[in-house]
Amino acid sequence: MTVVGPFGLSVRDQALEADVQTGLAAVEAGLLEATKSEVPFITEAAQHLVRAGGKRFRPLLVMLAAQFGDPFAPGVVPAAVVVELTHLATLYHDDVMDEADVRRGVDSANSRWGNSVAVLTGDFLFARASHILADLGPDAVRIQAEAFERLVTGQILETAGPRDGRDPVEHYLDVLGGKTGSLVAVSCRLGAIESGADEGVIDILSQYGERLGVAFQLADDVLDIASDSHESGKTPGTDLREGIPTLPVLHLRAEAAAHGRPEDLELVALIDGDLADDTVLAEVLRRLREHPALEQARRDTVRFAEEARSMLAPLPEGFAKAALGELCDAVVHRAG
Ligand code: IPE
Ligand code: IPE
Ligand code: MG
Ligand code: MG
Repeated sequence: MTVVGPFGLSVRDQALEADVQTGLAAVEAGLLEATKSEVPFITEAAQHLVRAGGKRFRPLLVMLAAQFGDPFAPGVVPAAVVVELTHLATLYHDDVMDEADVRRGVDSANSRWGNSVAVLTGDFLFARASHILADLGPDAVRIQAEAFERLVTGQILETAGPRDGRDPVEHYLDVLGGKTGSLVAVSCRLGAIESGADEGVIDILSQYGERLGVAFQLADDVLDIASDSHESGKTPGTDLREGIPTLPVLHLRAEAAAHGRPEDLELVALIDGDLADDTVLAEVLRRLREHPALEQARRDTVRFAEEARSMLAPLPEGFAKAALGELCDAVVHRAG
């Protein structure tokens, strides 16, 4: 048994492991190739986050999904490059929106070169992803376009907040389906399609990816509170500072509204106040880490991951299915 990648995925089959490792190595080469420009500065900005690392979660899913057909079919690696490039582009843009200084353990592009360069580099990455997609054909272009639309809609709805009378938790879960579930689902979908997997398998993997993506984002939102920057490569409390009402905070608010405990009301007031000061933010993080609302959000995360796992049931038994099942644990229990 070998442990593969940052998720500590244990793969019990040498052939599967070799396929995944070979595929991911080709993806790395593809990413560097796709981010080269005639303009050296654009290459530098575009490769900044490629070279900084990242978990390559979406390419990994493409490779695992491709196990249900021919994993060496010519479209599999390009599909994985496309989903990682798309993801990367959204990170450049997201860090502008969130005013984040650190990403993948290095300066964010916006903190290094300013917002304009970060936004335009994100656009450059989208352009390169589209170029590769064109070779995969119109179906792949459409699938990616639809996911991208959902992703952007999710980001916008997160910024806009729930309309009057809408349950904030439902709104938040819709946002997560859009901003993260969509591209994770497409990673599974494109991997399966490009490998020539059966229609039924493609659908199952897409639905699995959608749920897994939501669980992945729920875990990310918990990590914004629970992890430190060594583990996540990001600044803890960024969501709090940006006023993004993630699930732990929504649970806290519901609890404060229902029972009115003074310490909960005080914590809500702190969260609603000015968190620009590092000491205040650290205090809020300390209190949230001890609050049952965080544990409640963790339980919700596990629930979504378990739903994702249950969707795998009809798939043929094998090492690929086992690895996808294991990912359901790994995304929830990851530290970064
Ligand atoms: C970060 O994604 C943005 C989210 C959707 C949570 P990842 O956690 O996959 O980021 P990298 O690619 O590993 O840096
Ligand atoms: C952003 O969510 C998800 C996308 C990039 C679409 P977050 O804002 O939570 O991601 P991080 O925490 O900055 O990686
Ligand atoms: Mg962010
Ligand atoms: Mg986050």
